[in-house]
Amino acid sequence: MAMLIEDNAAQNDFLVKDNYVPITAKMWSIGGGKGGTGKSFVTLGLGSRLAKMGKKVVIIDADLGGANLHTLLGIRYPEHTLNDFLKKRVDTLNELCLETPISNLKLISGGDDILYLANPKYSQKARILRNLKKLEADYILLDLGAGSSFNILDFFNYTQGKIVIVSPYPTSVQNAYGFIKSALFRRLSQVFSKNGQILNLIKKSIDPGSEERINSVIELIAAVDQVDGESASIMNRELDNFKIKLIVNMAKSRGDMKFGDIIKIVSDKYLGVSVDVLKPIPFDMMVEKSIILTDPLLYNKTGSEVAMSIYEVTSDILKASKCL
Ligand SMILES: Nc1ncnc2c1ncn2[C@@H]1O[C@H](COP(=O)(O)OP(=O)(O)OP(=O)(O)O)[C@@H](O)[C@H]1O
Ligand SMILES: [Mg+2]
Repeated sequence: MAMLIEDNAAQNDFLVKDNYVPITAKMWSIGGGKGGTGKSFVTLGLGSRLAKMGKKVVIIDADLGGANLHTLLGIRYPEHTLNDFLKKRVDTLNELCLETPISNLKLISGGDDILYLANPKYSQKARILRNLKKLEADYILLDLGAGSSFNILDFFNYTQGKIVIVSPYPTSVQNAYGFIKSALFRRLSQVFSKNGQILNLIKKSIDPGSEERINSVIELIAAVDQVDGESASIMNRELDNFKIKLIVNMAKSRGDMKFGDIIKIVSDKYLGVSVDVLKPIPFDMMVEKSIILTDPLLYNKTGSEVAMSIYEVTSDILKASKCL
């Protein structure tokens, strides 16, 4: 957790300010800490469904260490990748958009130069983020990699729309909660990067070994309020803006819904973060098959429960997008 506040504060200024700049495209990140929970599958399902509704969608493979969205779409060798942008072979992200088998759905591939991309330098990450707004699209979906490295957290925090995917296992629940917590504290650390006193209080909330430990964000805000009421209002506003949509993917029974509810309850209690648990997506062998056959909508053709769930998730995201 310490790393959340270690990198150069001044450099991160735009991450804080850019959140208040109006944008036209609706941006959503799909993350969640643990690997293999279905982030890429949900990105693709949601993107395809929005595209079928006539929205112009760009999905971005922001899994910089293990890009594979192009493969899921049956594209073997992407003509352009984010690497071309980072190496300044092209000037805009629009030039990287690849056509996919689904009309209205474009892909920006994460590229194959894995080692180079997995740890983009600060300036490279900033360049990608700042250019997202110039993309010609109605919806931009970012498929994030596994883990909670600060590059992943910065992508997640940059988009106002935030989706967390969890699979119905205790380890996945732990990871998803840890991911939400890390993202929130990274954001707060960036917002208060120039205020040593408040930053110290944030550190006490993060550091489990701290003597005067602060146990929840509610306690943190109360402590901040003692120091400076204005900062407490800013923190409250940050919490109001930090809303999570959570999906339990690969659910095997109705009871698996509880994994989403646990995250909701704990996030509310300890982080003061509102988590909206959407309809779970069931486990279905057809999903695996559609991936093996690189036929992204195979599960759809059968009118399956998975297809129905994706449909409902899409309606929720459309509704929530109106408020972004
Ligand atoms: N609802 C589902 N039913 C059955 N299998 C699924 C479902 N969702 C995803 N899978 C399978 O789980 C595997 C992991 O999915 P996916 O690649 O989307 O996960 P991910 O979270 O993007 O992984 P990574 O963290 O490695 O990027 C895939 O093989 C996919 O076919
Ligand atoms: Mg993935």
